Amino acid sequence: MSYARIIGTGGYLPEHIVTNFDIEQKVDTSAEWIFERTGIEQRHIAAPDETAADLAEHAARRALDAAGIDGDTLDLIVVATTTPDHVFPSVATQIQARLGAYGCPAFDVQAVCTGFVYALGIADKFVRTGSARRALVVGSETFSRILDWTDRTTCILFGDGAGAVVLEASEEPGILSSHLHADGRYKELLWVPAGVSSGYDQTCLNQAYVAMRGSEVFKMAVRTLGRIVDETLSANQMTAEAIDWLVPHQANERILVATARQLNLPMSRVISTVRYHANTSAASVPLALDVGVRDGRIQPGQTVLLEAFGGGFTWGSVLLTY
Ligand code: UT7
Repeated sequence: MSYARIIGTGGYLPEHIVTNFDIEQKVDTSAEWIFERTGIEQRHIAAPDETAADLAEHAARRALDAAGIDGDTLDLIVVATTTPDHVFPSVATQIQARLGAYGCPAFDVQAVCTGFVYALGIADKFVRTGSARRALVVGSETFSRILDWTDRTTCILFGDGAGAVVLEASEEPGILSSHLHADGRYKELLWVPAGVSSGYDQTCLNQAYVAMRGSEVFKMAVRTLGRIVDETLSANQMTAEAIDWLVPHQANERILVATARQLNLPMSRVISTVRYHANTSAASVPLALDVGVRDGRIQPGQTVLLEAFGGGFTWGSVLLTY
């Protein structure tokens, strides 16, 4: 039986940092309120000329370096993003060109904050079935571009960044299972009303920005993440004690704490980056994974559970041996 194993991780955050104190100068909020209700202290924001493909390229190069391989040995590239540079071509094809991986399939996946988990689940299936031997999976977002910076209910929550992993076919266990779900009935709880096909009213520009019913999303996220963790453990006939590290989507520290509590997992076994990164949507899980790997907490052979919840709604998990 062949597995897809992670052989390298990488992350990239834009240089410019916006703190809660910066935000309290712009909207009717306070640095304390933001930190208390979300656990967020700061977020990184892409420069005006910095795009999702630029962030993705940095993260991908770091993952390739960590894996010790060249881009031209890749035979699949999947990028999760909600904020691509262009309507088309995809971010994946742009970074393919920059990495010199010409010819292999390259495409984007859109599942908002669950995007990286979806992309990893898809790439795992390519590798397991023998359609790809080496795959690059990236989550990259410039979410700051779809925020209404006058709306205190959303602009405090998000940041920009990218994270990446390189997968390789291996006889040693790697990704053990992936679990992907969606329920489109909840579209209007978290969405950007405007779109290429639906268009938007030019007199109402805020249709082009994220709109969210925060507390409803919060409750749904906590309930759903509890269920996806149970589903993942039971599919692998495991209990929560077997999890060395939980690497959750970083939306709100209170959601991370609630999920860990449901699992009876101490916060010392949860990788939390929300304080410094805020919610980077599809980039949040691979960025947190990269932080845990690079600071030495996540060690080879350990069991790691990735999970995410986002607009759509979409949600999912990946259980793996690192
Ligand atoms: O990544 C996808 C998933 N996204 C999420 O999971 C986000 C989930 N939601 C959340 O994280 C939280 O719901 C928020 C952080 C967005 C909001 O926290 P909350 O504790 O759910 O607050 P709330 O929306 O229930 O609002 C409570 C009060 C309201 O005032 P009133 O009506 O009680 O007078 C809001 O108007 O807090 C007010 N409020 C604020 N006050 C100061 C909302 N935003 C702010 C703000 N600063 N930035």
